[in-house]
Amino acid sequence: EYYDVFEDFHGVLMYKPFTKYWDEVETFTASLDDLVIASYPKSGTTWASEIVDMIYKEGDVEKCKQDAIYNRIPYLECREENIFHGVKQLKEMKSPRIVKTHLPAQLLPESFWEKNCKIIYVCRNAKDVAVSYYYFFLMITAYPHPGSFPEFVEKFMQGQVPYGSWYDHVNSYWEKRKNSQMLFMFYEDMKEDIRKEVIKVIQFLGRKPSEELIDKIIKHTSFKEMKNNPCTNYTTVPDEMMDQRVTPFMRKGITGDWKNHFTVAMNEKFDMHYMQQMKTSTMKFRTEI
Ligand code: A3P
Repeated sequence: EYYDVFEDFHGVLMYKPFTKYWDEVETFTASLDDLVIASYPKSGTTWASEIVDMIYKEGDVEKCKQDAIYNRIPYLECREENIFHGVKQLKEMKSPRIVKTHLPAQLLPESFWEKNCKIIYVCRNAKDVAVSYYYFFLMITAYPHPGSFPEFVEKFMQGQVPYGSWYDHVNSYWEKRKNSQMLFMFYEDMKEDIRKEVIKVIQFLGRKPSEELIDKIIKHTSFKEMKNNPCTNYTTVPDEMMDQRVTPFMRKGITGDWKNHFTVAMNEKFDMHYMQQMKTSTMKFRTEI
């Protein structure tokens, strides 16, 4: 059943209905002033997106509350069967556009690299991502049941989850950082000092970080606000697609929840595998906070 829904696509496991219209994605034409928000799923994409949208809308909360986040910042993807017609929405959007994607760097349309568009890569430690992804799986009705949590973690380690290996994904962008305009945002840093991270984003976007703007952003994008805001909490997606009665999209919003899910044995195995996978990487994550 699992591989009825997902398929290997150039070495990356993908949700089948998405790859069906791959041409639309691959041939997407970037504009010089497009901003890309890239991430592996469950890394804080929605949080970072709302921060960026607040900056683009100069702190106007009302403007951010006019539509759901997935319409204000669509995913660069194309499917026929549901409300996510990202490519179409993006083509109709006025500049400067914000383009959201979970594609690994090697699958991001060439046009973005050619035009050297700014990219914000949002990332989070692997263990918390695995936990968050597990609950997400339970909620997405089109996804097969992920099995028990230990079973899911096996799949995660083998890259047998949508968007493939977390290890490959984070490294795919990290390796490109020197030749492009990229900002890396770590979920753990955002939890620790959101002010500092918000200032970084504002500066990366070439704008002036006024105290007023920073304060507004921090208030509007707190976990509590975003959990209660229908424009950020995905409650406007029908239950038939995303069943939040199982678990809410805005679930816990903390670091270290993996400690409530990994047994000592699972953790040891994960660490061993992690060291192998990240052996040649200079990317450092904070898992113990
Ligand atoms: P948890 O499942 O651990 O709670 P993404 O947007 O990439 O799908 O990531 C979703 C994760 O980010 C969820 O993690 C969600 O709760 C968390 N998140 C979303 N908004 C947040 C915020 N404002 N502050 C902290 N965490 C947030």
